[in-house]
Amino acid sequence: MEGFTGVISDLGGPTANMYRMACKSETIEASCRKLSCVYPGICENLNTDHTALIQLYRKARNTKGIKKVLIGSGLRYDLAVTSPEYVKELVQHHVGGYLKIAPEHSEENVLSKMMKPGMGSYNKFKEMFDRFSKEVGKEQYLIPYFIAAHPGTTDEDMLNVAAYLEKQAPGNGTAKNKASIELGQKIYRGGIPGKNVAACAGCHAPNGAGIPAQYPRLAGQWAEYTEAQLVAYRSGERKNSVQMTGVASRMSDAEIKAVSDYIAGLR
Ligand code: HEC
Ligand code: SF4
Repeated sequence: MEGFTGVISDLGGPTANMYRMACKSETIEASCRKLSCVYPGICENLNTDHTALIQLYRKARNTKGIKKVLIGSGLRYDLAVTSPEYVKELVQHHVGGYLKIAPEHSEENVLSKMMKPGMGSYNKFKEMFDRFSKEVGKEQYLIPYFIAAHPGTTDEDMLNVAAYLEKQAPGNGTAKNKASIELGQKIYRGGIPGKNVAACAGCHAPNGAGIPAQYPRLAGQWAEYTEAQLVAYRSGERKNSVQMTGVASRMSDAEIKAVSDYIAGLR
């Protein structure tokens, strides 16, 4: 196919991992009055076997002309954790550095309104994700999405999710590429004068703490994440900030890398 590079950005569906999953019995299904097969818990009649999907992944990535098959659809991690073999397959072959995942909230009150599983299965999935990544020496990350002010959310829920996120403190990132850190520091503190790029410190604060609700915190963020965001602003893939699109559009790859490395070391 002309223009096809061999990379499939998403092999999924409404859900990434419910391929061929169905009620064990058509008779039961016909008379079932439950609203969901996966909430409040996974129904014991639901066939959660991931074998067909694992086979599909293997077949897809071994097809001639295919270089990489990624999974971008929403993953039901409560189902995924029932099959370590599936999580391993996914993590070791089909994650391109980052896997977006949507716990949506930390609080049961909100999760119940969305009919979403609790944080227990998210934590379990994260543990498996990290372990299987490490096993093959891949440095890759989960990008969990959270939603604010879903209908039914109380002030207390909001405070609790904030406290939860605060505890997941960044600051695990470390500046590692010493050569470019000096350049990164210059850009962060003074911008790139010749190119009309404003100092990051001007908005995100000199220590990278940001200004809550206005300018996000950057300090200690994984360099790979920061780099990916800047590239996304530059390409227009991420377009929710005119300011950041302006900043990133004038930066070269090397400058983006340098400032991302520097930010990872900020505390
Ligand atoms: C004029 C103010 C301003 C300047 C200067 C600025 N930023 Fe930003 N930045 C913002 C705003 C506002 C956002 C939030 C936009 C959004 O939600 O996408 C943001 C978001 C970001 C994000 C995404 C954070 C995340 O958690 O996803 C990164 C990374 C970032 N900026 C890096 C930089 C770097 C590096 C520089 C310097 C080269 C810089 N910014 C300069 C205002 C600024
Ligand atoms: S809720 Fe259970 S019994 Fe009902 S259709 Fe789904 S899997 Fe079958």
